Amino acid sequence: MIHLVYFATVAVYPLSVSGLLDTWFLEEPILSDTCDQRTELYEGVSYWKLGCGQKCLEMTNCRRMLICQEPNEYHCMFYYDGDYCVYEGDDTRCNCYRKLKACTDGRNCTCPLGYYGDTCDQIITECSDGFLRGMAPHGYKVASIKPTTELAPYDVVCHFEYGGYTTIMSRENTCCEQDFNRNWTDYVEGFGNVHGVYWLGLKKIYNLLMNHPVNILKVDTYYNLNKTNQQCSSFYENMALGDASADYGFHVDKLVSWSKTVCGDSLLSAPSINDRPFSTYDHDFTSHNCPVRLAGGWWYADDPDCSEANINGRNNELKWVSTLTGTLTKIQMSLQFL
Ligand SMILES: *[C@@H]1O[C@H](CO)[C@@H](O)[C@H](O)[C@H]1NC(C)=O
Ligand SMILES: *[C@@H]1O[C@H](CO)[C@@H](O)[C@H](O)[C@H]1NC(C)=O
Ligand SMILES: *[C@@H]1O[C@H](CO)[C@@H](O)[C@H](O)[C@H]1NC(C)=O
Repeated sequence: MIHLVYFATVAVYPLSVSGLLDTWFLEEPILSDTCDQRTELYEGVSYWKLGCGQKCLEMTNCRRMLICQEPNEYHCMFYYDGDYCVYEGDDTRCNCYRKLKACTDGRNCTCPLGYYGDTCDQIITECSDGFLRGMAPHGYKVASIKPTTELAPYDVVCHFEYGGYTTIMSRENTCCEQDFNRNWTDYVEGFGNVHGVYWLGLKKIYNLLMNHPVNILKVDTYYNLNKTNQQCSSFYENMALGDASADYGFHVDKLVSWSKTVCGDSLLSAPSINDRPFSTYDHDFTSHNCPVRLAGGWWYADDPDCSEANINGRNNELKWVSTLTGTLTKIQMSLQFL
């Protein structure tokens, strides 16, 4: 049972409800999905919608809020990160707001995650850049990045610890259902949503890697055995992708040796996917029908076994061979740039 805190409306912001929300927030869409993986910062109720907005303004860490009207009050949910909201069920009584940069005297601004500088006019190139700038030290957060090879910023899940990691795919089989059985265009452009599960897209991954030949690819796997969760990370040196004309062929130099004994290696173990092009059901480079059989796109080997890893396949068939046992419930692939 969540203990809800009521907060009063105080007259520090001499604005009407719409004035306050229009000045400091941008209304964002609400997406219907089975879950929102973003960490909640705080939750409370107020008799006025204005109270929710004021509370979020007071909290530097509040970047986004979902306000739902109940019969006698407003229920406010505040988040550390993200743009739009995810809500399962009837969202007609709810509104989603993203906090814009809040400045005192036009400077000294609280910036949306990923932006920095006195007036939030600069943006990190990727999550390792954000780590070096001391951004949001704890956990996984949605942040805006703009690699120098991209024309526009986009949102991604950043891990701002341990050198910083940019998440290129995230998959969980217990919620946030997404169809991963997609065509070539979808795998090139990316799909899913950063609040739940997603594939960043081969084009964006290629652009990220272009400037960073020296990097670490990390594969995080989460297993559930008898309701106990265990997590493991396998590390690879220097991921590279071929360009579009080479069908985004995959390469890593090697597995970082200590990963293997603990977590396993499902990329280079036979059948290895090294130097294999990406395959989808409508762009298949295997002679074994791998994308159709496994129901997802991947750098499948031209082998009857396709790949030891099954990351983009059916929800109940996810696979990463490891010393840990149990059901594979969650997989994330992320990159650290050195
Ligand atoms: C910027 O804001 C912080 C927190 O509100 C405050 O402590 C600091 O003095 C301000 N700095 C300037 C230069 O206004
Ligand atoms: C790929 O799939 C998307 C829907 O996920 C569809 O809109 C698009 O037309 C498809 N493209 C091709 C080339 O089949
Ligand atoms: C898991 O639970 C099953 C039955 O509930 C039991 O037989 C098995 O020993 C348990 N495994 C571990 C590792 O605890």
